[in-house]
Amino acid sequence: MNTNDIPDVSLDDIIGQKKAKKALLKLKLFRNPEHACFYAGVKDDSNSNTGILLYGPAGTGKTMVAKALATNGGCIFINISPNDILYEFIGKSEEWMKGAFLAAKEKAAKTGKTAVLFIDHCDVLFRKPGRNDCEVSSNITDIFQECMKGVTEPKGQIIVLGATNYKEQLPSPILSLFANKIQMNLPGGEERIAIAKLNIKSSHSLTDDDFARFAEMTEGYSGRDIFNLITMGAKPAARAEAIHHNGAWCKNDEDCYIPCFHSPDHSCRAKESGTFREVKERTGNGEFRPGPLTMKHIEIGIDLLGVGQLEPI
Ligand SMILES: Nc1ncnc2c1ncn2[C@@H]1O[C@H](COP(=O)(O)OP(=O)(O)OP(=O)(O)O)[C@@H](O)[C@H]1O
Ligand SMILES: [Mg+2]
Repeated sequence: MNTNDIPDVSLDDIIGQKKAKKALLKLKLFRNPEHACFYAGVKDDSNSNTGILLYGPAGTGKTMVAKALATNGGCIFINISPNDILYEFIGKSEEWMKGAFLAAKEKAAKTGKTAVLFIDHCDVLFRKPGRNDCEVSSNITDIFQECMKGVTEPKGQIIVLGATNYKEQLPSPILSLFANKIQMNLPGGEERIAIAKLNIKSSHSLTDDDFARFAEMTEGYSGRDIFNLITMGAKPAARAEAIHHNGAWCKNDEDCYIPCFHSPDHSCRAKESGTFREVKERTGNGEFRPGPLTMKHIEIGIDLLGVGQLEPI
């Protein structure tokens, strides 16, 4: 169990998912109106403490949303992974689940804050009776139902958030405990571009046409796919290209060395010829940076993602 106190993810970090954000904002979740954006007025509903289920394809930002909800509400975030429960504590999983709820209650009471108890991949924990049923899973379902009964009082102390990629695999008693079901979708073209831009951060030479082509090439990709292909594919490719570049290096306006072929306008103030190592030896501790990210690097990222080989180069 990971008890991260208050996380640091803003709703603004999450690109798109407008419907999901709107649905969350409508919920009356927190006791304290200071915790502004999720507090929607006077709480008079009886089900304000029932769970919220985020469902949708992998890598669409469900965990991010859970953390953003906790951040915005000034809540303690308690993250339960099914691996913790089913594997690490074989035979003790029911106790462990009770312990998680108890820990959430105690932390909430001690701090006066709401605790968000986040159960990721909850389809792994709770399965419909049938082919894949196992004793652990059905016991845990019973215990979870029991624990959920215990969070109704005092109101606003614990918010139980579940996430799953396979809502249809959850048993109906579990589904009914998550009264608020919020769908997360794969990003559209503009959103894929926005997620790419968010992760590129460093300089790039990509034009609007390049980004439009990027959107075409990444149809069906999740936010995580885009994050991975940029940070583990394209960026390392740009770095590798710089390290293996045997030509001239130049100082850019920020006093960093970049491969000179990226400075076709001859804006560089000083030129150094030689391999990366030679130039580094001559220039001492000068800062070396890859050149701007290009469409070629992006294509390498897409290829590596396609063959499942996204390790930092
Ligand atoms: N909408 C988004 N906006 C910005 N970044 C995103 C978005 N969706 C996913 N990402 C990126 O993908 C990463 C993984 O997202 P996250 O773990 O929240 O997905 P998930 O839906 O919980 O996946 P899983 O179903 O596998 O648990 C994030 O850390 C972020 O870098
Ligand atoms: Mg997740």
